[in-house]
Amino acid sequence: MGRGGVTAPALADIAQRLVGQGKGLLAMDESNGTCNKRFAALDIPQTESARRDWRELILTAPGLGEGISGAILYDETIRQTTADGTPFVRVLQTAGIIPGIKVDLGAKDLAGRPGETVTEGLDGLRDRLRAYHDLGARFAKWRAVISPGLASLGCIEANAHALARYAALCQEAGLVPVVEPEVVMTGAHRLARCRAVTEETLHAVFRQLWTQGVLLEGMILKPNMVLPGLDCPIQDAVEVVAFATVQCLARSVPAAVAGIAFLSGGQSPALASARLNAMNALPARLPWPLVFSFARAIQQPALDIWQGKASRVGAAQEALIHRVHCNRAALRGDYGLSMERT
Ligand code: 13P
Repeated sequence: MGRGGVTAPALADIAQRLVGQGKGLLAMDESNGTCNKRFAALDIPQTESARRDWRELILTAPGLGEGISGAILYDETIRQTTADGTPFVRVLQTAGIIPGIKVDLGAKDLAGRPGETVTEGLDGLRDRLRAYHDLGARFAKWRAVISPGLASLGCIEANAHALARYAALCQEAGLVPVVEPEVVMTGAHRLARCRAVTEETLHAVFRQLWTQGVLLEGMILKPNMVLPGLDCPIQDAVEVVAFATVQCLARSVPAAVAGIAFLSGGQSPALASARLNAMNALPARLPWPLVFSFARAIQQPALDIWQGKASRVGAAQEALIHRVHCNRAALRGDYGLSMERT
């Protein structure tokens, strides 16, 4: 139904390879603006060649494929090669990692709703998806941003609609959509507020996904964890976060969805691992695998070590792989603070 020549089993198979192998996703799809901001904080030159060097460091980290099933690239990155001329896409494929691509064009101010955004990028998306598929991508990502302090119905519905139209176009093009409605951590709100807004958002998103005929077995949800705001004086225990997150998802995500891959959203790397671990350690039998699709919580320690210096590539790669191992252990409920280096 409306998916061109792409069969439902083919989409479901890609989705299963992404979330069903006891591995997670690596988000390395920062836009040039975001990547430059992170580089600037460490005095790394904000150039295409520095971004290429950084992405090469990540993609060639020894053993990356042991814990990573898919990597989300950015438009610039999917066209780049290693220093010896090997396309990044081929490096991933050789490591057994499925290439993915961020296809949204960013969150833009929503008319008449100060502080709220709607994510754009639907115009011309069908053609861009075809081009990305030709370049080797087999899954895609689109991020919507919901601010828990505002979260108007107009904002939630506009973003849910765009996510669903993006997801339907992806499936038509043979790409598994990663659907990312992020309720952000900024603010002083309590965990209960995040839970209520996340639940409302997910209900709106799945209603729109159904309306647009999206195959749930051929998609992945990328949600936030249910957390108190970064400035909230009450920071709940790991187990409280884990229970609230799983309860919220159980109430709003259909069982047919292939899997759930969390964003890290500004949590420290160790906390993101601990909270994911606590969810997977719960006795509840859940219908979907709970995995990770972290950017900062995997990359940041390595970036802090690298700082743009060739002599530190090996140490940075080691830090990156350490985070991958921590998060992989969290999928089995085997992560513990003893895995962290002091
Ligand atoms: P963080 O894990 O840094 O939140 O990034 C995930 C992501 O892909 C945001 O779109």
